Amino acid sequence: MKTLKAAAAALSLLACTTTSFAQAWPTKTLTWVVPFAAGGPTDAMARDIADKVAKQIGQQIIIENAGGAGGTIGAGKAAKANADGYTFLVGHLGYMAAAPSLYKKLTYDPVKDFEPVFRFPDTPLVLLVPKASPHKSAADLIAYAKKNPGKVNFGNAGAGSTSHLIAALFESKAGIDVVSVPYKGAAPAMNDLIAGQVDAMFDQTNTALPQVAGGRLVALALTSKATMAQFPGVAPLADKALPGFEAATWYGLYAPKGTPKDVITKMHQAYLKALGDKAWTQKMADQGIRLLPEAQYAPDAFAKHTAAEIEVWRRVATDAKITID
Ligand code: MLT
Repeated sequence: MKTLKAAAAALSLLACTTTSFAQAWPTKTLTWVVPFAAGGPTDAMARDIADKVAKQIGQQIIIENAGGAGGTIGAGKAAKANADGYTFLVGHLGYMAAAPSLYKKLTYDPVKDFEPVFRFPDTPLVLLVPKASPHKSAADLIAYAKKNPGKVNFGNAGAGSTSHLIAALFESKAGIDVVSVPYKGAAPAMNDLIAGQVDAMFDQTNTALPQVAGGRLVALALTSKATMAQFPGVAPLADKALPGFEAATWYGLYAPKGTPKDVITKMHQAYLKALGDKAWTQKMADQGIRLLPEAQYAPDAFAKHTAAEIEVWRRVATDAKITID
């Protein structure tokens, strides 16, 4: 009889502890790992969303930049973090969908080692060249690259980053041979592009826009199917240069596997509340960021999306012969 009472007491203590944890979370600062250098599109998107979610949950969210290997180093670090509700990964299609097909030895599994928390909005990309570039259109660049194989340098954020993947897709569809120049993020790559150290790069609209508007870079084409008011006179690649070409970067927040479900629910709810601020969502739209139907942000929808994208990128990497040099 004593054993039963003791077991019942232990169970009720455990239940209280779990409930008190769930009710109390968050009680301290949270960390979001961004596996690229500060200043790139992933970092910019993460800092903006973290700022809004922090206000909803009443705790600070710090961004930890951990660059290298197209985001796979930071993703591997986050996969091994405590699943206590205080460390998260900002993921995107590169290291959370394409990497399993590109890297022979990944230190994490995007599905087995993570719990999707919520999806961010998407960002189309822009084909950018330095302001002094001799290439005045995507067709120009393709024609030059066809005549000069192995001569055009494309900067990117590392092997398997979106700037690498989209450039590799562009290369394959255009039937050209370009040189991939990897950096620890789009920000350092962008600095070298502005300085004319590399000939071109693809970057997401949110960080490309200020450089183009400021006259430091020239936008030759968009990876969206439609034109964008933010880039007047810039045609989608799909219009003329590469009919059918379309690409966008998707992102989202992931937690290490085993993170309490209640934490994931609360984080997702906080994000949806933040999206209720229409001035904020308009500001994102003004940066060319593509808001999604609310249901697509949810943890289960994001889990399905991540799994589906791993298969999509397996096919794309094979068809386009994308490899990690
Ligand atoms: C990428 O190119 O994969 C990233 O967007 C780069 C970055 O955000 O720095």
